[in-house]
Amino acid sequence: MIKACIFDLDGVIVDTAKYHFLAWKRLAAELGFEFTKENNERLKGVSRMHSLEILFELGNINLSQEKKEELAAKKNEWYREYILKMKPDEILPGVLNFLEDLKKNKIKIALGSASRNAFTILERVSIKKYFDAIIDGTKVSKAKPNPEIFLKAAHSVGEKPENCVVFEDAQAGVEAAINAGIQVIGIGSPVTLKKANFIVPDLTKFNLQYLNMIFENK
Ligand code: G6P
Ligand code: MG
Repeated sequence: MIKACIFDLDGVIVDTAKYHFLAWKRLAAELGFEFTKENNERLKGVSRMHSLEILFELGNINLSQEKKEELAAKKNEWYREYILKMKPDEILPGVLNFLEDLKKNKIKIALGSASRNAFTILERVSIKKYFDAIIDGTKVSKAKPNPEIFLKAAHSVGEKPENCVVFEDAQAGVEAAINAGIQVIGIGSPVTLKKANFIVPDLTKFNLQYLNMIFENK
């Protein structure tokens, strides 16, 4: 019986992946190399500093820790320029109806996102009120695929992992849910998310009845 739904943020609730991409691309250009959309797939669900390390690997760059922190802060400033302009119409299709349905049926709702900008985004798109617990990048020390973030989210809403479902668009996030012993719905492509229990292209037409049907049939 599903008692709580745990949502990733970037790529599940809002399409902020495009803003992360633009900011990383700008940083790569400044460092003298091109950063492609394919490269960006590796950064989804990955923390800011780890993303920078992957970027350095792609550009064959080696810099001091101090310089790394300076560049991560710069990327974040550019990223924040985008998110500070976000409006509620940037919530992805199907999300609001699904959240309403969960609330109506007293299913707990939690956020499990690696982003340290999660509060800003939730506030910008006026969706914070739906969440019973918000576990973001400021509250965890281990990055996805480590299960810490989702275990904390389940614990925060007082539910056992086996009674929760995670919604994720990133490979690292799907693995984090599996490592936490939580069932996971992949949002996006079956190619990248094949380890998920079930995969949908987006949350359009998704509701609690459908969710219960998926897990009853498993
Ligand atoms: C999410 C995104 C990643 C991002 C990370 C940290 O997991 O999918 O692309 O790097 O959050 O986000 P932040 O807003 O703290 O830089
Ligand atoms: Mg994501």
